[in-house]
Amino acid sequence: SSSNFVNIVEVGPRDGLQNEKSVVPPETKVELVNRLGRAGMKIIEGGSFVSPKWVPQMAGTAEVATKIEKLSGVTYQYLVPNEKGLSTFLNLLSEQPDVRPGSEIAIFTAATDAFSKANTNVTVAESLERLAKVTRAALDHGVRVRGYVSVVITCPYSGKADYGRVRDVTRALLDMGCFEVSLGDTTGTGTPTSVGEMIDAVLGANPVQKLAGHFHDTFGMGVANAMTAVDAGIRTLDSSVGGLGGCPYSPGATGNVATEDILYALQGSKYDVAGDLDALAETGFWISEQLGRENASRVGRAIRAR
Ligand code: HMG
Ligand code: MG
Repeated sequence: SSSNFVNIVEVGPRDGLQNEKSVVPPETKVELVNRLGRAGMKIIEGGSFVSPKWVPQMAGTAEVATKIEKLSGVTYQYLVPNEKGLSTFLNLLSEQPDVRPGSEIAIFTAATDAFSKANTNVTVAESLERLAKVTRAALDHGVRVRGYVSVVITCPYSGKADYGRVRDVTRALLDMGCFEVSLGDTTGTGTPTSVGEMIDAVLGANPVQKLAGHFHDTFGMGVANAMTAVDAGIRTLDSSVGGLGGCPYSPGATGNVATEDILYALQGSKYDVAGDLDALAETGFWISEQLGRENASRVGRAIRAR
């Protein structure tokens, strides 16, 4: 890749908080997004417009999107599963015009039918049909669309992923108009070897500039897998402060690789990255305390112990 700059998508307020047992009050979500922006995060996933029957933790995202401090140069992304989610988001843009600048949506599907069914109640083919309509409508309204493919390494229900299917689903999302597709190791079972093989397969039909890596840290491979992706030319990584997160439909999977850990690995490397590591470490402790959980970032804990 021509640029050595690695973009970080901070997914803590969405992927992180969607899996918490307790519902986090909107003020805490707003403060989390604000702290992340002030710590230099340039792309922040602020929440999702999904069914509250499926993921009650994400209720109140409209309030979060309205109340956050919008920083110029920062992009705010919101996960949308279907046309209903999109219309809620578009209505918000007309009622609260301040929400629009820098706001984007993210759509999501999977590499296996079993996961897609568990997560969104449709097969992959049905979801692609649904998402093509959502994407077209979003683009018609001037809203950029990011895509996700889940279970790119293993599926909790059907085992090892077919990397050819990952490649084809990625291609379908780019063809429908997504500006980028994030490859999700939902279960966090990947290793540098399997992640490298998966990326090689995806590159068979997709440009590296349009790919991102999304690694859950269940087996502690998150940083190694992220660096494998960067060495393969990928320049966008998803991570969450304090290593928050997990998917409610991926039993046993833990949080995303911690933003602090990614920053620590990239700072002083041949790659460039933005973000204030000390401020992020502090934010990781603050949100962990709010949630009554351990800080899952090894780097955050090491910084505090210094
Ligand atoms: P369904 O039950 O088939 O949908 O769910 P439905 O159309 O029959 O609607 C059921 C009810 O939900 C109805 O309410 C709808 O109005 C309502 P009722 O009439 O019964 O009162 N509803 C909605 N409400 C608010 N916003 C909406 C919406 N849509 C329907 N957008 C559906 C289908 C897609 C809605 C459901 O399966 C769903 O919401 N799934 C989301 C699951 C989710 O959020 N998963 C986590 C995010 S993905 C992830 O974490 C992976 C990722 O991090 C990458 C990785 O790690 O792999 C991105
Ligand atoms: Mg995830």
